Amino acid sequence: MTDASHDVIGAGRVAVVTGAASGIGRALAEAFADAGSAVVVADLDGAEAEAVAAGIRASGGEAEAMAVNVADAAAVDRLAASTLERFGRVDVLCNNAGVSTFNLLRDQTLDDWRWVFDVNLWGVVHGLQSFVPIMRSQGTPGHIVNTASIAGLLSGVAFIGPYSATKVAVVSISETLSQELAIDQTPIGVSVLCPSSVDTRVMESERGRPAELGTEQRTEMAESVRLAIRESFTGPTGLTPAAVAARTLDAIRTGRFWIITHAGERPAVETRFAGILADFPAGAEATPA
Ligand SMILES: NC(=O)c1ccc[n+]([C@@H]2O[C@H](COP(=O)([O-])OP(=O)(O)OC[C@H]3O[C@@H](n4cnc5c(N)ncnc54)[C@H](O)[C@@H]3O)[C@@H](O)[C@H]2O)c1
Repeated sequence: MTDASHDVIGAGRVAVVTGAASGIGRALAEAFADAGSAVVVADLDGAEAEAVAAGIRASGGEAEAMAVNVADAAAVDRLAASTLERFGRVDVLCNNAGVSTFNLLRDQTLDDWRWVFDVNLWGVVHGLQSFVPIMRSQGTPGHIVNTASIAGLLSGVAFIGPYSATKVAVVSISETLSQELAIDQTPIGVSVLCPSSVDTRVMESERGRPAELGTEQRTEMAESVRLAIRESFTGPTGLTPAAVAARTLDAIRTGRFWIITHAGERPAVETRFAGILADFPAGAEATPA
């Protein structure tokens, strides 16, 4: 990380947020606008994106809605081109759009896997492919935030197997990107956002599932788990999207890679890593024969 990340938010700066019509993405877009950045509100749901952009403009901010399916590489390229046409630059990119299915692995269909990977994994890859060259060529400081999840650190989470797999991948890609940008001192910071329960519509992801991938067939058990997770969003451990956005902007300003939102998840992460560390060969055993 370089100090250069400090001035990527504010007047004259441009932030692009995917999945910005709802939840965390919307809160990010509003927080960037409040801080003076112009914002591209990008989402599969063009009408909702326009409503968010209109709200930002009504509060005195600068925002443009763009309808985009992040699973479509050409569409994300068009998003980048339209952003340059409208605002002339990109200072912050938030690859935030994400969806989940809910079922045990044995009940997830290939179409379930495909949809979750198309949006959560390929959406991030497309964002990086389309925007990193632009941000690099600007030669000015920039920042990229990829939204993973605490599932990206816990790795295996029952009922959301495909989702967890994509979020592990998003953590990995973010770590690689951070290392690689540092190799040639590119002044672009990277952060990976790993939230636990946040009060959004992610439990209703299916609303954006392409018709050709069919509908989700949750078992009764999976549906009750989905409802229990949904309830936790508004319980004592749930956070508001605005709180997550505030933490994210702070991480960008202070150049933090990890954005961890829920202290209560610490024991679960420790338990996972303790299990890994426990099997490291010790002493003489560590030297291959
Ligand atoms: N809410 C949580 O508890 C939580 C926890 C961990 C991680 N996350 C992650 O946060 C991110 C934002 O989700 P959220 O919780 O705000 O949910 P949300 O459903 O409220 O918002 C997600 C937005 O992404 C958009 N979207 C879906 N598919 C898209 C596509 N193909 N192209 C473009 N946009 C698309 C949706 O239309 C929606 O506006 C996701 O990556 C999610 O996995 C959420």
